[in-house]
Amino acid sequence: MTTIRVPATSANLGPGFDSIGIALELYLTVTIAETRADWLIEHEMGADVPSDEHNLIIKTALALIPDLEPHRLIMRSEIPLARGLGSSSSAIIAGIELANQLGDLDLTQYDKLQIAVKLEGHPDNVAPAIYGGFVTATYDDVEADAISAPFPAARALTFIPDAELLTSASRAILPEKVSLRAAVATSSAANVLVAAVLRGDLELAGRMMERDQFHETYRETLVPHLEQIRDRARDAGACGTYLSGAGPTVISMVPPAEAEEILDELQQLPLAGHWLNLAVAPAGLMVEA
Ligand code: HSE
Repeated sequence: MTTIRVPATSANLGPGFDSIGIALELYLTVTIAETRADWLIEHEMGADVPSDEHNLIIKTALALIPDLEPHRLIMRSEIPLARGLGSSSSAIIAGIELANQLGDLDLTQYDKLQIAVKLEGHPDNVAPAIYGGFVTATYDDVEADAISAPFPAARALTFIPDAELLTSASRAILPEKVSLRAAVATSSAANVLVAAVLRGDLELAGRMMERDQFHETYRETLVPHLEQIRDRARDAGACGTYLSGAGPTVISMVPPAEAEEILDELQQLPLAGHWLNLAVAPAGLMVEA
């Protein structure tokens, strides 16, 4: 049986709004079992996640090949829904790969990125889900390009609130325009962030993660825990703290040797949710025969 494995992703990393992301070691796996009369996707995610052709994974595959032969699929997911960890992007990538496998499409990573970004609208989750590691990407409504690179040795201390936040609500709060001053400050911070990652400088990359004026400024009202975590994490020795994607998850990047100590400190904050100590996933989408 073929198994498709896609990592979770964390987008933006502060100033890289809609363009920068990383893959994280939390996975969605989809195993392709036997053919049957109707599509069935078995999972343990509750009644809110469809088990038929309305499931996003199958819907995506059928968008590529409408007459794809129905199969039984077995899905396991460690990626929480609607928390800013790219669960829908991972499902889209799994669906594209499902069509690729069953329809012998022979898609390249670049092909998969073009299809995925048109469905998702921005590349910063789908690109790291495909390529793994750290990814900087661009999309102009016609074509997407992405470059991946290894992320410096780090642990991502990840706070996942109990409450969901829909990406649509978190995007609706953003303004149509930002000032030239804010755009220059933020895009230059994103440039330095990329350069710092390429040089393996976690400390400088972390500082840049706290220099966003494109989205966090506006989203703060939806995620009051961002500042609380950022302040405590800074005092405890974290390199940088940012809102993961559209939130509500918040990630503090820390040196591996200090991760446990900083996590103990952060866990004392009185917040409703749980913490994970994650690694950046070096690889993206994988298919195991
Ligand atoms: N870059 C996107 C946003 C990620 O911040 O809205 C959402 O998944």
